[in-house]
Formats: sequence, structure tokens, C-alpha cells
Amino acid sequence: MERKRVLSGMRPTGKSHLGHLHGIFENWRDLQDTYECFYFAADWHALTSEYKHPEVVGQNLWEMFADMLSAGVGAGDNAGCLFIQSQVKEHAELFLILSMITPLGWLERNPTYKELMRELKEKDINTFGFLGYPVLQAADIIIYKARYVPVGKDQLPHLEITREIARRFNYLYGKDVLVAPDALLTEAAALGGLDGRKMSKSYDNAIYLNDTPEEIRQKISRMVTDTRRARRSDPGDPDDCNLYPYHKLYSPKELQDQIAEDCRKATIGCVQCKKLLMKYLVEGLAPYQEKRAYYSSHMDEVKEIVYDGTERAREVCQQTMSEVRDVLGF
Ligand code: TRP
Ligand code: SF4
Repeated sequence: MERKRVLSGMRPTGKSHLGHLHGIFENWRDLQDTYECFYFAADWHALTSEYKHPEVVGQNLWEMFADMLSAGVGAGDNAGCLFIQSQVKEHAELFLILSMITPLGWLERNPTYKELMRELKEKDINTFGFLGYPVLQAADIIIYKARYVPVGKDQLPHLEITREIARRFNYLYGKDVLVAPDALLTEAAALGGLDGRKMSKSYDNAIYLNDTPEEIRQKISRMVTDTRRARRSDPGDPDDCNLYPYHKLYSPKELQDQIAEDCRKATIGCVQCKKLLMKYLVEGLAPYQEKRAYYSSHMDEVKEIVYDGTERAREVCQQTMSEVRDVLGF
């Protein structure tokens, strides 16, 4: 039986952190067992916010692919296809065509647009390209006839616009050529940042995948915990603690239970609790970091995988574009 197709992309705008590993890459890795997967670096999308420093995008791109491969994305028996958006020009052609049929109102009403506009005020993103961001994203998805798109909640409005554009195209030209995809909602990342807010480069609260054991230990030691434990003798609640989810991901089950119990009885202090986490997090990340070290010294292998993937992706796109041009009579 033919496997259904999954597609997702990520903007190469910065270093990868634990939130990316557990919130995105592991999810992408597991989907490869069930679906035919396409994962790409959305370097054109990165340009919407980084157009003043485009070199950042080019630098981050290969690092991001090495991170993905080390996490098992694009690697293994069912390896998905990894590719670079800007190297498949068909995306741009479909973007242009879809932009003709997309009512402005759909873009202006887009909540993600309004939110990002506020968030990235200092980046000057009041541009035509930024308004059209969801149309380019729609083209990315539609050109592969992807059935599912794994994304976080923040991306749902973009998915909805994608579905509307696909349906509008089919309706306008009276042919069922384009597929309206469904979101595969990725659960919100279980791990908060060091300060308890969402883990993000811009908050300076992230543990990066390439942090050394020493850096990891230092970061853990400054993590906020349950604020009710002002004194060592105050009992805490692991369910309200920013650190405990890390134990849930990295520590052995018996230890997790022991910590939860001791925390509630105040028989363990946060300092000691953090020491335990340091050990298990550093150990738990080691297999990833070993693979990452391998790819760092074999970047030519990374490039070969991605260039191969880009070829494969292009073939799929050429097929869709010839259908699209047919429908338009071009
Ligand atoms: N907008 C996505 C993000 O910021 C990146 C992206 C671009 C994407 N094109 C896509 C995601 C297509 C899924 C499908 O994370
Ligand atoms: Fe959190 Fe551990 Fe402190 Fe409890 S003991 S509040 S789980 S850091």
C-alpha cells in the first residue's frame, strides 16, 4: 500500500535547542515509520525576518540538517527526504500562481501574522513578502500533495489558509488537482525554558543541543523551580515545577517517582534534585551529541544526503507543476 505523504519545514534562523529535539525532530523521526516524509529548510521563509543578514540563513542551514540527521530525521531505514526550499524553484512558481487566487483579506486576518508583526517589531517585517508568508507556505505543502503536515498550534492558521487556497484552486478551475492537507498537531513542547517561559533563543533561556556538559550543568543550576519552595523545608509540587518535566524525559522511572514523593515531603532540596538531573540529562544527550560530532566532521555526507533529497523533491514538484499548468492552459 502506498504510504500517505507528510511534509514539514523549519526556518534555519538559529541554533537548535532541546525544545526542537523533543518538540519537533523526534516527532518527525517517528513519522518516518508510517508515512512518506519530506522535511525541508525553509530558507526563503527565514528571509522574511532575516533579509538584512541573509548570511545567517546560509550558515544555519547545514547545522540544522546535521542536527536533524543526528536526531534520526532523514536517517535510518525509512529515511524521509531532506531538501532545501530555495533549491526547488517550482515552489516559487506555484507561490506566484497561488498568490493570484488568494484574497488579501485571508492574509490580513491571519492571527499569526498579526502576532508576529508585534513580536518582530524591531526586524522591520512590514513587507510584501511577509504578508505573503502563508501563501509561500501553502505552495510548499500543496506542491507535494501532502496529506498531513506536522506543526505546532501556532501554525494552524497557516494550515487553514493552505486548505482554503487548495479548495479555491480546485473550485475555480473545476478540477480536483490540489490536495487540502490536515495538520498533525504536535503536542506543545513538554519542556519549558530555564526561566519557565517557552524555550526560545530570543528569551536566552534555552539549553542548546551543542552545549557542553559543563554548560548544561550551569544552566540547570540556574533553572527556576517550584516558587513555593522558598526555603528548603517548604514542600513543593513537581506538577508545578519547571524542572520536573526534564526528569520525566531523562531520569529513570523509579527516580522520578522518588523525587516527586520527596519533593512533596520536602525531603529533597532543589539543589540536590538538580544535581540528579544534571547527570541524567548529560548522559541522555550523549548519544545525540556523538552522532552530531560525527556529522560535524562529515559535513560532505550531510550535503550529499540533502542534495539527493533535493533532487527527489524536485521530481515530485515538476509532476505537480505540469498538472497545474495544464489546468491553467499554460
Ligand atoms: N512556518 C513554519 C515555521 O515557522 C515553517 C514552514 C514553512 C512550514 N513552510 C512550511 C511548515 C510548510 C510546514 C509546512 O515553523
Ligand atoms: Fe522541582 Fe525538584 Fe525542587 Fe521539587 S525538588 S520543586 S521537583 S526542582
